[in-house]
Amino acid sequence: MKKNIAIFASGNGTNAENIVRYFRDKGTAEVKLVLANRPDAFVLQRAERLGVPAFYVNKEEWKEGTRVLQLLADHGIDFVALAGFLLRVPDNVLHAYTGRMVNIHPSLLPKFGGKGMYGDRVHQAVLDAGEAESGITIHYTTEQYDEGGIVCQQKCPVLPGDTPDSLAQRVHALEYEYYPRVIESLLQ
Ligand code: GAR
Repeated sequence: MKKNIAIFASGNGTNAENIVRYFRDKGTAEVKLVLANRPDAFVLQRAERLGVPAFYVNKEEWKEGTRVLQLLADHGIDFVALAGFLLRVPDNVLHAYTGRMVNIHPSLLPKFGGKGMYGDRVHQAVLDAGEAESGITIHYTTEQYDEGGIVCQQKCPVLPGDTPDSLAQRVHALEYEYYPRVIESLLQ
């Protein structure tokens, strides 16, 4: 049976949009819900344009988890994908979706992960460390930031003259290519 996906996101939402479009084309699953932790997160506008139900959930509600669990239940959600989501997921939600919730991180974990490591901060740290390669990690979500079991890693080179922006673009390309496919394989 077709599975229902929810996406948690905090910002721009290009991965969220890519996942929505991928499953619309494939028909193997459907993104039924987008939750954001900021009222001005652009992902909310993207979701509205795409016709996907989307809600802002405030900080207190994210800490407590009850409203999130209710929204997930109301939309019959089987699987949750974090895509640029910067808050910790509350324990009650984590436990309800053990083995059914993944995160994507824009580096080769365990390198350059942990609290406060997101977006351009990650890419800047990779450049500062003089790494020859970077990439993406898709992993199960647990109580600790960026520490769950790794499902998939993909690498890209760090090139001479790279800026956080140019590296981010290369990493985003990997995210768009692999994240929906990995979600799809986990749903089967
Ligand atoms: C993505 O690169 C994702 O890997 C990263 O935020 C970006 C969100 O972009 N996530 C983290 O850094 C989590 N620690 P998007 O909003 O355009 O999808």
